[in-house]
Amino acid sequence: MLESDRKSLQDFLDTQKTQSERNALGQFSTPYRLAVDIMKYAKKNLGIHPITFLEPAIGTGVFYSAFLNVFGVDSPHTALGFEIDSHYFNPAKDFWHNSQLEIRNADFLEQVPEKKYSLLVTNPPYCRHHHIESNKKKVLQQLVLQHTGIKISGLAGLYCYFLMLSTRWLKEDALSCWLIPSEFMDVNFGKALKHFLLNNVDLVQIHSFSPDQLQFDDALITSSIVVFRNRKPTHQDIIFSRDGSILKPYAQKSFSRSMLTSETKWSTLLTSDISVEPISKIGDFFQTKRGIATGGNNFFIIDEKTINQYQIPSKFLTPVLPGPRHLKKDRINSVNGVPLLDQAFFLFSCSLAEDEIKQDFPLLWMYIQRGREEGIPQGYICSRRTPWYYCEKSKPAPFVMPYMGRSVTDHKIFRFILNDSNAIATNGYLLLYPKPQYESCMQNSDVLIKIWEALNAIPVESLVKSGRVYGGGLYKIEPRELMQAPAPGIAELLGTKCFQPNLF
Ligand SMILES: C[S@@+](CC[C@H](N)C(=O)[O-])C[C@H]1O[C@@H](n2cnc3c(N)ncnc32)[C@H](O)[C@@H]1O
Repeated sequence: MLESDRKSLQDFLDTQKTQSERNALGQFSTPYRLAVDIMKYAKKNLGIHPITFLEPAIGTGVFYSAFLNVFGVDSPHTALGFEIDSHYFNPAKDFWHNSQLEIRNADFLEQVPEKKYSLLVTNPPYCRHHHIESNKKKVLQQLVLQHTGIKISGLAGLYCYFLMLSTRWLKEDALSCWLIPSEFMDVNFGKALKHFLLNNVDLVQIHSFSPDQLQFDDALITSSIVVFRNRKPTHQDIIFSRDGSILKPYAQKSFSRSMLTSETKWSTLLTSDISVEPISKIGDFFQTKRGIATGGNNFFIIDEKTINQYQIPSKFLTPVLPGPRHLKKDRINSVNGVPLLDQAFFLFSCSLAEDEIKQDFPLLWMYIQRGREEGIPQGYICSRRTPWYYCEKSKPAPFVMPYMGRSVTDHKIFRFILNDSNAIATNGYLLLYPKPQYESCMQNSDVLIKIWEALNAIPVESLVKSGRVYGGGLYKIEPRELMQAPAPGIAELLGTKCFQPNLF
């Protein structure tokens, strides 16, 4: 099943219809490149579970074609599409008959869901309200009211009904991506849709294309990609981005839900120049690196009991944070630089030769022998060090972040920890060091706290997007990826507090 064959089929079927026939049923196919962009975005934001994919207005299946390209033809999945018009349905059914995609020749809006789906990506019909027959419109309005509690204007285009009724088909947390006309953000009939996006689901992002960046060759319409999750609204900020691609927008700005209402025009949030914030990245402000690799945490990271037992002098000890799983707090206070935690841990590291240690610190020498018996010096890292029990030096970082997390529903997949101590951290963490020009500014604890809040306000989706996802919903982010993650709000904080005129 080649995309070029599908595209030829789509073009051929389109030429057999007049423009007004296509207007009546909203038949304007998505360019493949755009479908792939949206699908890549979906992949970054979904775990690698078997995906159940729903396309309510499938046409010849450009999104399914993009799905196979992005997720892979062998990815475990099932897919269902609806197409009302047999002109597209019959050839599309033949085209996809050897695939996992089931296509039904039916009106999506009249279907009763018998199963729920984890991913929906579509470009629904844009039909204007006067193409919707009046009895059908009444039934749909009633359905929307029943399902969402929202009264929808009779002037709303068909895509509004598609979107608002779609959640009946979605699993909790399902990702839903819609390519729809941008008009809903400003026109009166769009209020119901905006209300729905703010209150009934968890709106994640709206990526708009400027009027001079039309996405369709054959429809003069400016469009937006609306992304939401099927769950109650969360505290996550909503990203408004524009142009470029949804994966790499030209500009973006985050808004807390409380700043948005269904009454205001949303398109101005991004189009007026003053409101466009150049996207600064974490790497603009921080150098990031992995914490230290000790070569054997059980040997090198010790508690006070071991320190006392082997009389290990403090000059060989540096406070260290416990591993991320054991660190429940997001802010580490300290006394004399030692973290105030249930249990204190220290990194043991010593550059003295063994015979010197044997003479001056006999108990410590016994501890080193214990490590030797456990085979620590033969490990990959220790075998390359001299002496093997000397760990690399590292500075405490003001912010640290566990570099992996689980579950897309957990808002703490990635959390930033304010480290107000002299503790260093092991390689379970990423360390964020202020760039030299911000070092003195970030010594101010008020500034640090504000930056910490701004870091934690970065939508988890954009961190997830910058990182990578593994099977079973395991998310990881590497130092370079973290540097590329958008960091809205920090420029403003540092701009006013640090008087850095040449921030960008
Ligand atoms: C804007 S086109 C998009 C097609 C395809 N999703 C794409 O992106 O290329 C909308 C499609 O939905 C179909 N359609 C219109 N009303 C529908 C309905 N009520 N139920 C199912 N399909 C419908 C149209 O025939 C058309 O093929």
